[in-house]
Amino acid sequence: MDNLQGKTAFITGGASGMGLGIAKACAREGMNVVIADFRQRAIDEALELFRSQGWPVHGICLDVTDREAYVRAADEAEAVFGKLHVLVNNAGISTFEPQITKGVYDWKDIDFDIDVNYKGVLNGIVIITPRILKHGGGGYVVSTASMSGLVPVPGFPMYDSLKMAVITLMEELAIELQGTGVGAAAFCPGPYSTNLGKTSGELRQKHLGVEPPKFEPPRDKDGKPIRFEMPKDIDFSKMTREADEAGERVVRGIKRGDLYILTHAEFKEGWVARSEAIARAFPDEPINPDFKRVFPMNVNNPIFTTQKPVPAFEYVKKN
Ligand SMILES: NC(=O)c1ccc[n+]([C@@H]2O[C@H](COP(=O)([O-])OP(=O)(O)OC[C@H]3O[C@@H](n4cnc5c(N)ncnc54)[C@H](O)[C@@H]3O)[C@@H](O)[C@H]2O)c1
Repeated sequence: MDNLQGKTAFITGGASGMGLGIAKACAREGMNVVIADFRQRAIDEALELFRSQGWPVHGICLDVTDREAYVRAADEAEAVFGKLHVLVNNAGISTFEPQITKGVYDWKDIDFDIDVNYKGVLNGIVIITPRILKHGGGGYVVSTASMSGLVPVPGFPMYDSLKMAVITLMEELAIELQGTGVGAAAFCPGPYSTNLGKTSGELRQKHLGVEPPKFEPPRDKDGKPIRFEMPKDIDFSKMTREADEAGERVVRGIKRGDLYILTHAEFKEGWVARSEAIARAFPDEPINPDFKRVFPMNVNNPIFTTQKPVPAFEYVKKN
């Protein structure tokens, strides 16, 4: 999608953190922006900011897990701005996860994680994508996964596996959308400075009305807690990035037609180690030469070749 001017973006979780960063980056491209978020107070603050810049915006209080409300939100967005072109499924939560084998995992927490981090994305795709396809003017669907879907972080089995599921979902969507003028991307950020911890706790309380489970550090095979000792000479604030930078990266990915929008090159090492481990695990057996002719889409997928190399991103801080 080269020209975003005058088009409309529908962004879930758009009132805070990276969603807000994406919303601002879209507005700077001349887009109309719909900020759909579960926290009205945060929406109000975001709307004030947008209006002070003269950016066209509409706020909708939406819980992405509520499918009926989502359909109403999509109707409302179309009533305000006409056609929808870009959907960003960015709303997500991250709560402390006790180890899944310890028997203290509350089913309510498991369902809450799946509902927001996976079904919320699926709901957006099912409800909004047909509307983007219908007008024929092209568009893009981006879903925020995480670098931890590519390189799992110990202690977050639900979060990491759901984010990996989102990446696969976006690959499937990209395959389905080929030739339609609508693209699809999985956005996999590394660590960014946002409100995720605070908003996740607030929303969990709102959804479940219960206190968070006690945090249990992940343990090694001898039962010792796995702890990461922060090197004393490191300033942690320099390890995370600004949410606005993430927003600019997402817009660049949409304009480039990327399938994967990645951030921190530091994680490439872990991804390569993971994919090489899986490659090593294939049994050393002769290959049936006819297999690929019968099951071409099973053994490989041409969608992977659509991803072009990505040059370094030069971030220039803006208002
Ligand atoms: N912050 C990071 O380092 C990081 C890294 C990788 C991925 N992510 C992902 O980035 C996305 C954005 O998170 P963030 O870090 O900007 O946090 P954030 O808390 O600042 O923003 C998330 C927004 O999503 C909204 N939200 C949550 N659940 C919702 C629901 N059910 N319906 C509608 N809105 C809902 C929240 O109200 C909040 O405004 C999430 O999907 C998160 O998992 C974050």
